[in-house]
Amino acid sequence: MEISNADLTSIFNVVTSQNKWMVDLHMFTAAICTIIFIVVAGLLVAIIGKFKTPENDDGSEPRQVRGNVRLEIVWTAIPLLIVIVLGVLTAIVMLVVNPAVGSKKPDLIVVGHQWWWEYQYPKYGVTTANEFYLPLGKNSLVEVRSADVVHSFWVIAFGQKMDAIPGHPTNMWIHPTKKGLFLGTCSEYCGAQHGLMRIIANVVSPEDFETWIKAQAVIPAVSEDATVLKGKELFNAATCVQCHRVAGNPDAQALIGPDLTHLAQRKTLGAGVLENTPENLAKWMQNPQTFKPGINMPNMRLTDADAHSIAVYLESLK
Ligand code: CUA
Repeated sequence: MEISNADLTSIFNVVTSQNKWMVDLHMFTAAICTIIFIVVAGLLVAIIGKFKTPENDDGSEPRQVRGNVRLEIVWTAIPLLIVIVLGVLTAIVMLVVNPAVGSKKPDLIVVGHQWWWEYQYPKYGVTTANEFYLPLGKNSLVEVRSADVVHSFWVIAFGQKMDAIPGHPTNMWIHPTKKGLFLGTCSEYCGAQHGLMRIIANVVSPEDFETWIKAQAVIPAVSEDATVLKGKELFNAATCVQCHRVAGNPDAQALIGPDLTHLAQRKTLGAGVLENTPENLAKWMQNPQTFKPGINMPNMRLTDADAHSIAVYLESLK
């Protein structure tokens, strides 16, 4: 599916069982607040009308009213009851949405970086970046980490936000109930490009998930095309390999920047900055700072021809 067709949505577009609980609680709370508003506003209007100053007002003090025990008990008990009900329901929803993890191992580890997301599937030995997949109908345990500063992982239609805190992994459960492509963003200010730290979440059938994850574990073949080979040589000779990993390329095993093993499969470059095409990749490599000022990837000062060759190599990695 194309990003332009993605469910940008709102938190009210419920696509996980966790978000169903959260939205239901939200709507229930909103309903109670609406009733309180109508009662209070109605009484206010009625009282203003009923007790307005009469035509023949003689200016004397109105009749003075002192305490009324029964009334005071009622108007203390009703709000107390409402607060207790909402408090208990909130606690229940929190326990249902985020139950204890126990000794369960995460299905997906999300690592926030300035300014991109790393996704590891430890059970499959797969690492990818900026775009991840989850199987429909399975409650996946997601561990959220940070490699530098505090970020917050938020796929809007999944409802929950989870902070990525350095040195303190957090957990969330995601049980998708609808297939589709859902977008998210970092939602904790983390520096200049906080707004360009986009998340692409693909929810697919369990069979399609298996197909996808198995394909990720396969080392992509490098074609014998001259431009591809030239690109690979340049990639290995330049400083690219000091930050990036490409499985099957022994020179490129660094884990500082995004894993580029299957770069060609991704929809965007730079965590949502550019559409992933060879032309855009060449422009991006020539000066990423133009597109995302402040990112850790330097201007590589590549010639047009060299950038083109490296782009052709990386875009051959399906
Ligand atoms: Cu990462 Cu804001």
